[in-house]
Amino acid sequence: MIHPTAEVSPRASIGEGTKIWHHAQVREGAIIGQHCILGKDVYIDFDVQIGDRCKLQNGVYVYHGVSLGEGVFLGPGVMCLNDKYPRAVNEDGSLKTDVDWDVLPSHIGNGAGIGGGAIVLPGVNIGSWSVVGSGAVVTKDVPDHGLVYGNPAVLVGFVCKCGRRLAHVERRDEDDLYRCPHCEQELSVPSGITRYLGLDQGGSS
Ligand SMILES: CC(C)(COP(=O)(O)OP(=O)(O)OC[C@H]1O[C@@H](n2cnc3c(N)ncnc32)[C@H](O)[C@@H]1OP(=O)(O)O)[C@@H](O)C(=O)NCCC(=O)NCCS
Ligand SMILES: [Zn+2]
Repeated sequence: MIHPTAEVSPRASIGEGTKIWHHAQVREGAIIGQHCILGKDVYIDFDVQIGDRCKLQNGVYVYHGVSLGEGVFLGPGVMCLNDKYPRAVNEDGSLKTDVDWDVLPSHIGNGAGIGGGAIVLPGVNIGSWSVVGSGAVVTKDVPDHGLVYGNPAVLVGFVCKCGRRLAHVERRDEDDLYRCPHCEQELSVPSGITRYLGLDQGGSS
């Protein structure tokens, strides 16, 4: 289903069952998986790859160099950027073209959920099943199941596949055990991450 006001390049590939809503634009070379939802005013830059069952809320911008795994949620107004040191012109004053663009690739892992208005900076990778709080400016990689928020976004804990924050249960030699108070699922997090951040004492900073 592609809304008549959406502009989808004939050179983009759209998976079966994907819905594209009002005024969205999908550029050439983009590959969108199956059963995705692209909300109103979404912009997908050229060659961007998006896995199956992703939900992009209204006004999301995903730029060239960014890829999304499967089941990724991008809240309203999320921006995934690609040029860390942006300039409109080259040093000689000539307008920059795609060739002059310095793209840093980044990937958003399976099942990750990014809150509304968050900005993901160029070259930053977001782990699987992680959650980024609304309004966050993500400047560093986020580990799998990580929970980050703020500007700059800081890792404050870990989240379950169900999206709830995990409680720290036990500190072990190689890892820390977390459990979800909501659905009881357990998660092992390598101790290197938790101890460095002081997150092994109860799941929060
Ligand atoms: C990040 C988030 C998952 C945290 O939820 P939570 O674990 O239930 O956290 P709480 O609401 O208990 O807040 C805990 C602390 O974090 C702060 N906080 C929560 N979300 C925050 C955010 N996005 N940015 C900055 N601080 C935040 C709270 O103020 C609180 O601070 P305090 O301890 O000093 O009082 C949630 O607030 C969020 O941003 N979800 C995304 C919502 C969204 O954009 N959905 C899009 C679909 S419409
Ligand atoms: Zn859970």
